[in-house]
Amino acid sequence: MATEMIRPVEKSVKGLPTSDGAGVKLTRIIAGPELNMLDPFLLLDEFKNDDPAHYAAGFPDHPHRGFETLTYMLAGDFEHRDSRGNHGHLTAGSVQWMTAGKGVIHSEMPLQKEGLSWGFQLWLNLPAKLKMTEPRYQDIGPEKIPVVKREGLEVKVISGTFEGTKGPGQSHLPMTYLDVKLAPGVAWTQESPLDHNAFIYPFEGSVQVGPAGKEKTMARGNLAVLGTGTSARALGGEKGGRFLYVAGQAIGEPVARGGPFVMNTPAEIQQAFLDFRMGRFG
Ligand code: CO
Repeated sequence: MATEMIRPVEKSVKGLPTSDGAGVKLTRIIAGPELNMLDPFLLLDEFKNDDPAHYAAGFPDHPHRGFETLTYMLAGDFEHRDSRGNHGHLTAGSVQWMTAGKGVIHSEMPLQKEGLSWGFQLWLNLPAKLKMTEPRYQDIGPEKIPVVKREGLEVKVISGTFEGTKGPGQSHLPMTYLDVKLAPGVAWTQESPLDHNAFIYPFEGSVQVGPAGKEKTMARGNLAVLGTGTSARALGGEKGGRFLYVAGQAIGEPVARGGPFVMNTPAEIQQAFLDFRMGRFG
């Protein structure tokens, strides 16, 4: 039997405040200068604004090709519409998983006029053989997301499996997406296959990440890139903590980016811009 190897913290990454869409304030954690990507993850944004001026203009119509966007809302109310006729509400606790594949034009606009808007958007790459797949849309309400609860631990399983509980999110390649809440000192461990890349992003309080005796304290807003191993482990920090645990099978192919398109080669990016201009999307 192979020995369990707990992933250490390999690198700590602090996000970069920026704005996107029509001026929505957000923090870019993956796809910034410190961490360009973590194969298969191309981008991670956290948006947390209680001033409507910082989210009111939303993300009007824009195209995507070659990857997937996963949006997880903690607070607020956005509306999604796309060129395939999909329509959904991003309310607190809901997940929207859009496979852009060969091309989609979508918008994400706030329905709320006031109050907190808080959530995450993750870009998940697709391998060459799936980049031009048919677009797909998964609208996952909070009631569809199972929660594993015990003393001091609460795990929402969005995709993948935690202790035998399977999440509803359907991925093209194996991946896990959990929202984990821990009371001070309470431990969480998760199987984490060797060929996956993984990160922990605390968004409330703090957590201690890594093997027993070698934990690193990660405070809110600091992403821990996990090193090699077969499982992940964290303890709730001094006042407890809540974090995203995301892991996915690395694709290991060349990545060419061009604005909202992510392909394998610059020529495929040029083709994407051309196809979009010619109205061949959606
Ligand atoms: Co988009």
